Amino acid sequence: MGNLGEGRATVMSGDPAATPEVPAKLLLRALSGETLSLPPVWLMRQAGRYLPEYRALRQRVPGFLDLCFTPELACEATMQPVRRFGMDAAILFSDILVVAHGLGQKVEFREGEGPVLAPIRSSAGVRELSLDAFAARVTPVYETVARVATLLPAETTLIGFAGAPWTVASYMVEGGGSRDFAMVRRWAYTDPAGFGELIDRVTDATITYLRGQVAAGAEVVQLFDSWAGVLPEAAFRRWVIAPTRRITAALRETRPGLPIIGFPRGAGLMYRAYFSESGVSALGLDSTVPPSIARKTLQSIGPVQGNLDPLLLVAGGEAMASAVAVLRRALGEGPFIFNLGHGIVPETPVEHVAELVTSLRRPLETP
Ligand code: CP3
Repeated sequence: MGNLGEGRATVMSGDPAATPEVPAKLLLRALSGETLSLPPVWLMRQAGRYLPEYRALRQRVPGFLDLCFTPELACEATMQPVRRFGMDAAILFSDILVVAHGLGQKVEFREGEGPVLAPIRSSAGVRELSLDAFAARVTPVYETVARVATLLPAETTLIGFAGAPWTVASYMVEGGGSRDFAMVRRWAYTDPAGFGELIDRVTDATITYLRGQVAAGAEVVQLFDSWAGVLPEAAFRRWVIAPTRRITAALRETRPGLPIIGFPRGAGLMYRAYFSESGVSALGLDSTVPPSIARKTLQSIGPVQGNLDPLLLVAGGEAMASAVAVLRRALGEGPFIFNLGHGIVPETPVEHVAELVTSLRRPLETP
């Protein structure tokens, strides 16, 4: 780890129970509610096509899922951004649709087209999904986690993840990405009992899956609810908050105190209810959430993470620098993890990511 700023390696934990020689990981400290002088940083989709070394790795296997299910290669993909930029966290290299695949649905990733799934639109389709087969199908992912855990520098946190049930079910029903997720919403409104069976099965699988990741060495988990923002209030409570609450409660039964980051992208005015009711311990903010409002209404509940627009990372320069300063000024006075408001896009210049991380290792200049 060549690029840790001075002083970072010597910060000690504020927790009197911790062994004094072992500096607590910055990400875990922020997640436990501590305000740090420099924010820990990791970026959603920090492994991926914007990295030349990822593109080289990707060519070694025919399909994207082969990469996710080959622990040696998935471990390498996980490590790439940590090695290159010295991120404070590694996020397991996998995909949220591994859960759909694990349940027995046909899932393909087509070049330039994104994921394509054999859609499920009825209770009969739901009954074909098998939780028994699931456990065996996803074991390579746990092996990836275990491998990464042995390689990470002592100051780097290992994050496991899953899609939240609403978002995973959305892809399972639509058969892929969608502009408005109209089909899944229609099913949820016209036949909530039938759609509820799908949500329940995905929720059960997600609990198994995240428990497996935690047992293998994940220290934090993040739930990606990328399409939470398409639902009105009542549906948001039923299909976003309630299943998330079931997952957080189940995970804490086996691992009390596990830090769980929820990312209900686009939740808008529902962010607050989500944060106080879903059981997540930290909140991922999308780029449309104003930092000054987040400071008052969300960071008062707990740690927040976010939310630089990924396109500002593409732009770089002064546009990026001033947005980063605004974010740090607004949220740096409380528990805060620096991240984007959504995943890195493939056209992101690698130098801009390096510049961003370097700037975050320096104190903010007073304006
Ligand atoms: O963050 C990381 O570096 C870890 C790996 C990770 C991937 N996907 C790898 C990936 C994570 C955390 C995800 C999450 C994910 N996957 C989400 C939630 C976050 C979000 O972006 O909203 C969603 C909705 C998916 C589903 C998905 N996977 C789509 C829609 C696509 C195609 C579009 C695209 O960005 O390529 C994928 C493919 C995918 N997942 C790739 C990677 C690196 C690219 C495929 C390739 O390299 O061939």
